[in-house]
Amino acid sequence: MMQTRFVAAGALLATILMNAHAASAQGAPDVTPKVLPDRIDDVPDADGSPFPCFDNFSWRAFIALNWPALEGPENRGMPDRTKKPGDSGPRVWETYKARYEVFAPGAPEPKGWTSYEGANPCGGVDNETKTLSAFSHFADYNQASFVLGRLANPLIDQSKMYTRYEVRFSREQFESIVDPNNKWYIKQNLPTAAKPGTFKDGSVEIKAAWRVLNPGDGTVRSRFYINKAMVFDPVATDQQGTVVCNEHEIALVGFHIVIKTKLRPQWIWSSFEHVDNVPPRTDEPDAKAVPVRYSFNSGLPPQVVAPMPAPGMISETNRPDPNLKMQVIRAQPIQPETMQMNRNYWNLPDIKETVWANYMLVMTQWPRIPGTPGIGNAGTPFPTGVSSTLANTTMETYQQRNGRSCIECHQEVSNSLGRDFVAFMGFDATDPVQQAIAATAFRASSIRAANATRNSPSLDSVRGPSRTALDDDPSVQALVRILQEP
Ligand code: HEC
Repeated sequence: MMQTRFVAAGALLATILMNAHAASAQGAPDVTPKVLPDRIDDVPDADGSPFPCFDNFSWRAFIALNWPALEGPENRGMPDRTKKPGDSGPRVWETYKARYEVFAPGAPEPKGWTSYEGANPCGGVDNETKTLSAFSHFADYNQASFVLGRLANPLIDQSKMYTRYEVRFSREQFESIVDPNNKWYIKQNLPTAAKPGTFKDGSVEIKAAWRVLNPGDGTVRSRFYINKAMVFDPVATDQQGTVVCNEHEIALVGFHIVIKTKLRPQWIWSSFEHVDNVPPRTDEPDAKAVPVRYSFNSGLPPQVVAPMPAPGMISETNRPDPNLKMQVIRAQPIQPETMQMNRNYWNLPDIKETVWANYMLVMTQWPRIPGTPGIGNAGTPFPTGVSSTLANTTMETYQQRNGRSCIECHQEVSNSLGRDFVAFMGFDATDPVQQAIAATAFRASSIRAANATRNSPSLDSVRGPSRTALDDDPSVQALVRILQEP
């Protein structure tokens, strides 16, 4: 397995070397591990292996984004330069705009970058309070694979808790969406293949995966980056008939970073995981040696990925039994040079002994030949191919073997439709459940004062029609095509 992949990578490397002179004039790539609150701007082509260049870019971005943030609305997106990665407090990316701040029910004009005003999907909760919920409930329970028109495929960890997902984006990306000439938060204005849209250089988007901790998880706490959040509670919501969110401790288990740069207009794609997620595939650290439990693997046979929960979607009426803790494995080995970069970072004084030494880069994917950006140009992604389908075990759990990594899938569900590789807009801006909420409960109840039960829109207004208008969105149709392939 490893061997095959290496030969393929070697052959491609030869091609890279032949093309190397093209961009090398733009400066030597930075391959030296450093702990700084600023990321590397860009990755020019270079002689030799490209992995250290791109993997160092990924790690520097990971550290800069997970730097302790300055707090308060006026400082959104800014690091506290007096702090170090080991210090406490919310992280820079957690002060970025959340998707629910920009794509709110009824598509109101989003408040400016330096504001936390606006509706919150938990209702009665300030947007500065971290919230794991979506206006269409359960959207943030599901991975990026779908039955027709619906988000699908939840992941249940070994403590019987649902994994929760969070999407946030930088000021550049926000400004692209709200630009008066774009207004992409309104469905009718979404870019199309005929009228493609482009995000600003420097746009950064994050998708994070969280474990919701419960009292039995006491011993593992010191291994994770932990924060508190208001978390949507489906059981209490069912029982009480109103949306209920409760405060929980949450532990970071997965982290996608996607950055659009001048030299890489098809964005650079990086993915990090907590080292205790699943058993090592090659020489990754093994939670067993600590010893602690894997978050997503029983440690017992059979060591195969659990079948996708049928029929896949989690919703008000269909929730896989949390007792079905899902068995997850890493289907593809992590590139050895990437593991070397992980070890280099773990050994740096400001990372060693912090929770960040328990996170590893599992892959970087980048456009190898960017060319002229356009809806038909995915930039010749690298690495690529079935034996290098790189994915995050917490976010593409069931997609680790289909030959499409980040760029290939986002090309199909977004860029080919004129949306510059950004996927969520197509889902959020067209969500009819949001429209239903806008038409009824939110207008009426608006933001009620926060109270013990966190009352917000009645559940009935949240339950949408069983078939959603998402079925007609081209992003969804593209994804369904991919998933229906044998
Ligand atoms: C099977 C197709 C598929 C694959 C493979 C895939 N994604 Fe996505 N991704 C999506 C879809 C669809 C969404 C929007 C729905 C959501 O939020 O999950 C999305 C959302 C995201 C987001 C939130 C912002 C956005 O563009 O919507 C990020 C960041 C992201 N993906 C990064 C990655 C990275 C990094 C990889 C590779 C490790 C990857 N994705 C692999 C389909 C995919």
